[in-house]
Amino acid sequence: MTIASQQWSSRFMFIIAATGAAVGLGNIWKFPYIMGQHGGGAFMLVYLACIFAIGIPVLIAEVMIGRRGRQSPGLSVKALAVEANVNPIWQIAGWMGLVGGFLILSFYSVIAGWAFAYVPKAVTGSFSGLSAQQIGQIFGDFSSDFNGLLLWSTVVIVLTCLVVAKGVKNGLERVIRWMMPALYLLLVALAAYAAVNGDFAKAASFMFAPDFSKLTMGSVLVALGHAFFTLSLASGVMMTYGAYLPAKVSIFRTSIWIALADTSVALLAAMVIYPLVFAYQLDAGQGPGLIFVTLPIAFGQMPAGALVGSLFFIMLVFAAFTSTIAMIESVVAWLVQSKGFSRAGACLLSGSVLWLLSLLTVCSFAGFEATKVSFNFVGKQVSNWFDIIDHLTSGLLLPLGGLAVAIFVGWQLPKNISQDELASRGWAFALWYVAIRWLTPVAVTLVFLNLTGVM
Ligand code: TRP
Repeated sequence: MTIASQQWSSRFMFIIAATGAAVGLGNIWKFPYIMGQHGGGAFMLVYLACIFAIGIPVLIAEVMIGRRGRQSPGLSVKALAVEANVNPIWQIAGWMGLVGGFLILSFYSVIAGWAFAYVPKAVTGSFSGLSAQQIGQIFGDFSSDFNGLLLWSTVVIVLTCLVVAKGVKNGLERVIRWMMPALYLLLVALAAYAAVNGDFAKAASFMFAPDFSKLTMGSVLVALGHAFFTLSLASGVMMTYGAYLPAKVSIFRTSIWIALADTSVALLAAMVIYPLVFAYQLDAGQGPGLIFVTLPIAFGQMPAGALVGSLFFIMLVFAAFTSTIAMIESVVAWLVQSKGFSRAGACLLSGSVLWLLSLLTVCSFAGFEATKVSFNFVGKQVSNWFDIIDHLTSGLLLPLGGLAVAIFVGWQLPKNISQDELASRGWAFALWYVAIRWLTPVAVTLVFLNLTGVM
């Protein structure tokens, strides 16, 4: 059975599902805090440029590979290599994505567990009237408690596997169909709330009046790396979902829609967070704790904070959940297609491996002595296992995977195969081809060199 026997029921469904895979903690948790660390508006402009000049072209290439190959990522790339009469070793571009995506998921499900755990905290109004210090304490205690971390990441993994086990039509579509629109509506409502009740003027000038003096070359490269992460590129997902895409659908237009939806969620998230941050005189550049430490302070002080806070964390769980579903799906699809597993068996196996891998991150956050390390891992000083997995994925596998896709499609695959699959020969194709052949390899090489400390 090839993957193609299961298809998205419509182009709209593919857009919703692929957007669900792209939108996640990267948009709502990571984007606002790295933007805060890198100077606001100027960083945002660079990030937008990276999305449009590099992210979208690679996204198009990945969806194209998936649809033409109609198999799981590694085998799809291999099928195209065979069709093009080039070395099948290029299939590594697909396999790297599976490995990278699975490793990302091992810590992603732990952070998704944080979001889950914050739902009951918000619902019961436990932030109400607390000081910044007390809320920092709550986060510190929670994020270092082994049992709590284990419980919530296990919940995320089990729920993800249950949905994926039901299959694309029965499981994924049914869940994603209402999850994504609900997420969007919640964000719009929260942004409106924040605009009225927060310091909208300050947030607007922070976001939309770029101060280029704060922008360094390092920030530019962070923005480029995040463009990859946020669109779920080089993680197998977009190729896998592309394999479910009906033949007549325009890959160009669909990919642009996905990127626009993903970007608008990130911008909306920033518009929820920054008016609140400034209204309560909090630090925009405080780092990864921004959501889990800063927002609860605002929720604790604003009227109806328990309600607003609950909505926010529920929304974050939704966003993370559609990403974890996508991730497991690409591994499950491969096990079912190539290794003869049933969907349920494949979910059980990949869920178990994932759960074991997630223990590395759980133990790291719990601060176990055995997880502590200290060495320079390809240009980054790592201090625990989580740091190693994080850098192995975002620092190495994503940039290298993206580079491999761009070189394969831009330099190995004959141009006419791309023209045929994309059903385009006009200016749009020409633009995309320049981006995939030149812009992407050069830019990704720069990111890679920077991340590995070569320059
Ligand atoms: N794009 C996701 C986010 O912004 C993160 C991510 C990267 C991802 N690679 C992935 C999610 C692969 C699912 C599958 O949160």
